Amino acid sequence: QRLRMWSAACSTGEEAYSLAMTLAQTVPNLQNWQYLILATDINPNVIHRAKAGVYSSWSFRGTSPEVRSRYFRPIAKGQFALQSDIRRMVTFAEANLVSPDPISNSGLMDIIFCRNVLFYFSPDRVKRVLERFYETLVDGGWLIVSPVETTYLTDLPFVPVLIDGTTVYRKDVLNPRKSVVWPVSAPVVVPPALPVSQPVPPVGEIPSFFVVPVPPTALNDAPALQEPVALAPVSSVVDEEPASTLSPYEQARRSYEQGQYEHVITALLPLCRALDMAGAPTADTIQQLTLLARAYANQGQLVEAQTWCEKALRADQFNPSLHYLLATVLLEQERVTEATRALQKALYADPNFVLAHFALGNLLHQQRRYADAKRYLTSALTILRRTPMEDILPESEGLTAGRLTTLVNSMLGGNRS
Ligand SMILES: C[S@@+](CC[C@H](N)C(=O)[O-])C[C@H]1O[C@@H](n2cnc3c(N)ncnc32)[C@H](O)[C@@H]1O
Repeated sequence: QRLRMWSAACSTGEEAYSLAMTLAQTVPNLQNWQYLILATDINPNVIHRAKAGVYSSWSFRGTSPEVRSRYFRPIAKGQFALQSDIRRMVTFAEANLVSPDPISNSGLMDIIFCRNVLFYFSPDRVKRVLERFYETLVDGGWLIVSPVETTYLTDLPFVPVLIDGTTVYRKDVLNPRKSVVWPVSAPVVVPPALPVSQPVPPVGEIPSFFVVPVPPTALNDAPALQEPVALAPVSSVVDEEPASTLSPYEQARRSYEQGQYEHVITALLPLCRALDMAGAPTADTIQQLTLLARAYANQGQLVEAQTWCEKALRADQFNPSLHYLLATVLLEQERVTEATRALQKALYADPNFVLAHFALGNLLHQQRRYADAKRYLTSALTILRRTPMEDILPESEGLTAGRLTTLVNSMLGGNRS
């Protein structure tokens, strides 16, 4: 009666809390169990929001109204707070999946969920993360990734197991290459009105690599904001020129490259305020406003990010990257309609903006508007066919054309239009 689960790259905690609710619903004597639900992410802002356990209607798409009314209470228009019993079942921590620290405490987890994050990493990093997962799992432990990420697991000693039409992976040290079809599980019987059990203290030690402070540069590897869109780094590589000879903008850009978003804000805010008063924007002004908006967005200061992004847009209203940035910030605030409009404007400004096609397709797909989603995803594929597969896509935080093609193909294969 021991179960340890890890939601790796948990974002705002929906997956981890779903696990907690599932345990509470399906395990009759949970109070006698030793369990751990560990949820980690590199981004301190999402961890902060996850701990609060407050979600908007958008997070409940695809969730039955019964679940919402059973575990959440409305606290404001469209805002729902999770029951504290469930909240206490999850342990949140900041952690970088690709930190160079050595792995300790192997065999610590029974199940690892790592969904919708591997495709952001380079192949080397994917390999490193999967090796880490392998070490961290007990023999016979399970790894669950999203359907589009299963291609990464082919070269590692995880055994694919098909359960009810879903492929999950098992660490099987004795027979690492065998593929198995697990018997279709019997339906889970949910006891009618099971009270939520009192959580027991988490089991085991949390290994040090889970809780190491995350250096800001690590964020360069992460989509700074939520799916489906990620902010792009400033495109050009920083040279080795000493900081003192650089203009304030160049210095700020260098700080941005190093993930030092606070520095960017300190350097650019007075400049941008002055520009704001001066009117008559130039290309330089727009660059500065944009970098400030990006720094705020990466810090999770969404209102400020939106304000500066809109100022930049007033100066350059047909800038596709700015509309895309605004969409990212709006999505993070779950303002889906406005985000959709911003993405449409990005496409109006640049019909070949592949990531905007993908983001719109993804958004519509999440809303189960499969036919509409298919139009945008197909357009993305058409553009991708003309792009060398190893090219890093604009505004994509390192996503290559090849990886996006795989992703889009699997979404198109999986939708039901
Ligand atoms: C698209 S979200 C996926 C969230 C969740 N797993 C899901 O499927 O809904 C990607 C998450 O990965 C996190 N992330 C990115 N790079 C990371 C890293 N190196 N270590 C840990 N988390 C990372 C991001 O902060 C973000 O919250």
